[in-house]
Amino acid sequence: METLEAIRKRRSIRKYKPDPIPRQDLETIVDAGRLAATGSNRQPWDFIVVQDRATIAQFKSAGAWIESAPAVIAVVLDSSSRWWVEDGAAAIENMLLACTALGYGSCWVEGDALPREEEFKRLLGVPAGKRLMALVPVGIPDESPTREKKSLEQVIHWERY
Ligand SMILES: Cc1cc2nc3c(=O)[nH]c(=O)nc-3n(C[C@H](O)[C@H](O)[C@H](O)COP(=O)(O)O)c2cc1C
Repeated sequence: METLEAIRKRRSIRKYKPDPIPRQDLETIVDAGRLAATGSNRQPWDFIVVQDRATIAQFKSAGAWIESAPAVIAVVLDSSSRWWVEDGAAAIENMLLACTALGYGSCWVEGDALPREEEFKRLLGVPAGKRLMALVPVGIPDESPTREKKSLEQVIHWERY
């Protein structure tokens, strides 16, 4: 899929078919995260690919719907890097777009995961000094949501605000 088409088509998907995701596709998705822009080229990230049903069930506390995902990618950042939040966000968006390009649905789960960060870090064996920024459930979409977006005219400014 062409890049701009993936950007236009991407939507947060919160219902998935149970079909497992081939390892090659999961590697392609994480590879897209790995290649994101990153301040001073620090690349302060690690990605944990979870397919174990019992582990994914534990993510229910961040949203019952997450349990329907055949895979969840946990995004881990080294917060000693000055740009860790921006870097993590860039990596996550790259992965969401890669999911769309490959025909998968995904969702950036941060707001509902952060309050459980310590619990999820323990579950996944994340070192104490690192941050678990977000979970990215991935699967074949089982819904086709539409989302109201501001129009280009509402947000674009030429030369001055
Ligand atoms: C920083 C951030 C945190 C988010 N956290 C959650 C979350 O915890 N749970 C969730 O279901 N969606 C979460 N989302 C997804 C947003 O709700 C979603 O992107 C927004 O409603 C726009 O819909 P769209 O992604 O389909 O365009 C998050 C998105 C971002 C960028």
